[in-house]
Amino acid sequence: MSRGFQQDSLLATPLNTSFVGSRVLMYEEVESTNDRALHLGGEGTVIIADRQTSGRGRHGRSWDSQAGLGLWFSVAFETPIDGLAFAAPLAVRDAVKPICACTVKWPNDVLAGGRKICGILVESRNNRTALGIGINVRHKPEDFPPELKDKATSIECLAGRDVDRGALLRDVLTELDRRIMVLRQGGLEAVRREWVEACAIMGRRVRCGDHVGVVKEITPEGGLVLETESGVRQLLLGEIVEMNGA
Ligand code: BTN
Repeated sequence: MSRGFQQDSLLATPLNTSFVGSRVLMYEEVESTNDRALHLGGEGTVIIADRQTSGRGRHGRSWDSQAGLGLWFSVAFETPIDGLAFAAPLAVRDAVKPICACTVKWPNDVLAGGRKICGILVESRNNRTALGIGINVRHKPEDFPPELKDKATSIECLAGRDVDRGALLRDVLTELDRRIMVLRQGGLEAVRREWVEACAIMGRRVRCGDHVGVVKEITPEGGLVLETESGVRQLLLGEIVEMNGA
């Protein structure tokens, strides 16, 4: 059964941020919070919905966004910010840290216990950017569609206790705000390095689509540089699988 926002202390106390959450708009239902953010804009505006009817993920996939279970939200930016795709997963990881340990996975997933708990989708239209974050919070194993059962989990599944979505949202927005300030002050390299460390992917042998190789670098644009048998390849999209015996 759906547990509405009213049962979580969703931003019951004001945010202590400089920029993210300049305005916070909450909806029971939207098609996609990214669409709303791209449509409404406003620097730092946060759009959050209890349910998305057309939540989307990377590669044109749909994003399961049932009511009462997750944190589905987007932050609007009126000017491009390099490094958002590094900052966002780190912010989620750090916000979730007191509850359970997470790692980040290229290009910008957050995993816990080897399964995905968060996906991130950065989209731009007419110089406006939407940073969309979907976090699985309250799901029980049976809440996931069959195709995700082995790949996804939720924070409550791992914590074994109730988790307040409002408190978690506040922590994610606070961490995000902090890192965006760093990016805006020229700290892309520092945030990239932090991401690379969190990902622990350097020197690993991975498969990404048809390419198999050793990870040599993550570029400032988030590209994965692989040394393959047929030369060095730079990939911007895809899903990686670690190869045994690397
Ligand atoms: C992925 O891992 O494929 C990215 C998933 C991104 C999902 C979030 S939920 C909030 C925002 N609105 C959307 O429609 N998508 C993102």
